Amino acid sequence: MAQDRLAPPRHVAIVMDGNGRWAKKRFLPRFFGHKAGVDALVKIVQACIDRDIEHLTVFAFSSENWKRPSDEVSGLMGLVLAAVSRYLAKMGAMGVRIRIVGDRDAVSDKLRNAWNEAESSTLHNTKLTLNVAFNYGGRWDIVQATRKAIAAGVPADELTEAKLSEFMAMAHAPDPDLFIRTGGEVRISNFLLWQVAYTEFVFSDCLWPEFGERELDAAIAAFHERDRRFGGVKETPAEA
Ligand code: FPP
Repeated sequence: MAQDRLAPPRHVAIVMDGNGRWAKKRFLPRFFGHKAGVDALVKIVQACIDRDIEHLTVFAFSSENWKRPSDEVSGLMGLVLAAVSRYLAKMGAMGVRIRIVGDRDAVSDKLRNAWNEAESSTLHNTKLTLNVAFNYGGRWDIVQATRKAIAAGVPADELTEAKLSEFMAMAHAPDPDLFIRTGGEVRISNFLLWQVAYTEFVFSDCLWPEFGERELDAAIAAFHERDRRFGGVKETPAEA
């Protein structure tokens, strides 16, 4: 099926990498890079709304990020709490619905309460869903979905791809159309493994705090150049 070249991707997923290097370049502690990363995210949320993107999913803290030095981990937790209190009203006014995806068991009560408040107060917003992957890992997601399916009594022979998808943390969203990773690394790093089966990947050398509308448009333009076949063949008039 030919792709409508003007249609924006419905769902964009981003690995916001390069905050630490951005700070280092300025002789600042890494924390300041993450802080600048939050500001970049707020701008990209508005840019996605302006481009009629329905879902933006960002990797804010991976299951593996606990391995970072404890002061960076606690700095990130504090930053996220501060970001929720600073930007929640603004996100609400922008029409953003916030969803948290990831394992909430390991986070503090304070952060869990902040997530619950962010989700419930934005529940009825419809402009854009911002999925914040926090304490998230793609392998964790597949395992937790399988466990939930077993606990729900799904018989083995009925556990199809579609059935398991119902139990995944991103069951409320279509699979990402476009996956962007900033910061120059070319890997998935255990993000959305199940959901990116047919996603288009764009890797940018730009450090996340410097990623803005121009870079987003470049990624969307690259996406529009792709020929998405979803495992099928391209239909041409001669073949039709
Ligand atoms: C990767 O850069 C970035 C992170 C691990 C954290 C990203 C988190 C935010 C921008 C905060 C999000 C906040 C909310 C409220 C959603 P890095 O530290 O790996 O950078 P480096 O590769 O240059 O060291």
